[in-house]
Amino acid sequence: MTKFPQRLYDPVKIGAWHLHTRTAMAPMTRCFADDQTGVITPEVVEYYRKRAADGVGLIITEGVVISPRAKGNPGVPGIYTAEQITAWKKVTEAVHKEGGTIIAQIWHVGRASHHELTAGMLPQAPSAIRAEGLIPRFRKPYDMPEEMSKDDIKEVINQFAQAAKNAIEAGFDGVEIHGAHEYLISQFNWEGTNKRTDKYGGDLKERLTLMKEVFGAVIDAIGTDRTIMRFSTFGTGNPLDMWEDPELTIRTFVEAFKKVGATIIHPSTMDFTQVIADGKTLHQLVRKYWDGVIIGVGNLTAETAEQALEEGTIDLAAFGRPLIANPDFLNRIKHGEELIEYDGAKHLPILI
Ligand SMILES: Cc1cc2nc3c(=O)[nH]c(=O)nc-3n(C[C@H](O)[C@H](O)[C@H](O)COP(=O)(O)O)c2cc1C
Repeated sequence: MTKFPQRLYDPVKIGAWHLHTRTAMAPMTRCFADDQTGVITPEVVEYYRKRAADGVGLIITEGVVISPRAKGNPGVPGIYTAEQITAWKKVTEAVHKEGGTIIAQIWHVGRASHHELTAGMLPQAPSAIRAEGLIPRFRKPYDMPEEMSKDDIKEVINQFAQAAKNAIEAGFDGVEIHGAHEYLISQFNWEGTNKRTDKYGGDLKERLTLMKEVFGAVIDAIGTDRTIMRFSTFGTGNPLDMWEDPELTIRTFVEAFKKVGATIIHPSTMDFTQVIADGKTLHQLVRKYWDGVIIGVGNLTAETAEQALEEGTIDLAAFGRPLIANPDFLNRIKHGEELIEYDGAKHLPILI
């Protein structure tokens, strides 16, 4: 009997990794680290082990911060101290024992923070423009950030590269750089948050300079076949709100990726099927210009993922919320069993 969906369950070699299936666990912040030390708590080990046992091809961890100043929510783990690295080893060992592959998402939130979260220092940003609203899970307004000097930028690029080396030391199989949503790299990429007049600001190509330099430094540190860049428009919402010319924007991003010798990218959207230009979805537009590896994400179902794999639009299908609610997600869809619906209020305070 033919198993459905067939392609999702194909083993595949992506970069340096031999993956059991063409699936990925999307990075999801869970806030189960000690808030003072950024060291993960023991239940995190079992949480990731279960997803590896389910057969997830590539587990991408929750965002893991690269320095005390990179943090934007209470309880977020880090990967910049020996104690943090040692704790992560338990996770990578447990996942490897199940035959799984796991990479760390390395993260700097930029202006999206508050000095009480960043060891008393002001948040860093391309320009001194404050984020609107309240910090999730902290419920205080964002601080006015400090504009980064060229030395600050150099330091942060080094911190990303060091975090990648630390991840390898902790037993991770690689890293994903968080260049998406409304965080530091994305703040450089978007004109609304980047008013710089040096080489890190200006037109889109210039604004992508920090992303390019971070990507290049991490690739130099651990290799292109172990490094992914996650990127998006500013914000996680509708790309049309932020991109005047989505196709030109995507071409400019892809040119930057090619320049640094990148091979694996992860365009992020909340709606995989949304048409954004030329009758194409975000991932289809990226595929038009990029023949390397693409990870798909954004409310994917077994059916939409299977179709996109079949068409060759994507190489790996990432699932987020369904994997929080169903530790046995892949087994459930394989056997046509019902899925438990993700419910933030119910699932966020616990790790199952
Ligand atoms: C609780 C939660 C936490 C998230 N944290 C992160 C994160 O740390 N880094 C990131 O790049 N995306 C994060 N995301 C976005 C997811 O990786 C994913 O792109 C999004 O949930 C869409 O996929 P889905 O429809 O399969 O859930 C988060 C999403 C959720 C629901």
